Amino acid sequence: MKRLEERIDAEGRVLGEDILKVDSFLNHQVDPELMQAMGDEFAHYFADMGITKVLTVESSGIAPALMASLSLGVPMVFARKHKSLTLTDNLYTATVYSFTKQTENTISISKSFLSADDKVLIIDDFLANGQAVNGLLDICEAAGAAVGGVGVVIEKRFQRGHQFIVDRHIPLLALASIASFDNGHVVFSHEKEQ
Ligand code: G4P
Ligand code: NA
Ligand code: NA
Repeated sequence: MKRLEERIDAEGRVLGEDILKVDSFLNHQVDPELMQAMGDEFAHYFADMGITKVLTVESSGIAPALMASLSLGVPMVFARKHKSLTLTDNLYTATVYSFTKQTENTISISKSFLSADDKVLIIDDFLANGQAVNGLLDICEAAGAAVGGVGVVIEKRFQRGHQFIVDRHIPLLALASIASFDNGHVVFSHEKEQ
């Protein structure tokens, strides 16, 4: 998505070896018009798949997931990362290890909001190692829900998440695909192929 790549070029900052900071439109301040355009892209791409629900993980997945769900005309459910204070026996849970932060999180979704009648579109802000997506896939499996696809705003192709999803034959749409970082400069994967 050209408009997104232009924003990454203009406002993104590469931190260290493998982190892209995009706090001005995605991970802290949120650009609602860009988010809506991205939601429309996801909805258009997955329009014929019979999606009944959009799933994401709090917090940065919520904005793009909400816009995709609005455009598809289906509900959005976000997995929670923190243990509920109320009873936990009505929850699907999965463990998500973050390589970036070297922490382990339990994510959970109420059994009330996901069932075997659902066909799910998983949306997230970043696809890095694929651990968040993997946790949501585990939850869908536990619920008996079908997975129609995965949509991410930005994927980093040089990490393992992209191949993880492709290997499972799950349709994947990344609105921006980063092949590498070159001296603090973002190289998109279509630029590398040319
Ligand atoms: P994974 O789910 O693909 O395995 O991601 P990983 O564990 O590597 O990343 C952990 C957290 O860091 C995730 O956010 C993920 O979205 C975020 N992240 C990964 N790579 C980048 C990057 O290059 N730039 C930015 N800005 N974030 C990145 P999270 O812990 O779920 O936090 P939240 O922001 O959704 O609350
Ligand atoms: Na995220
Ligand atoms: Na994030």
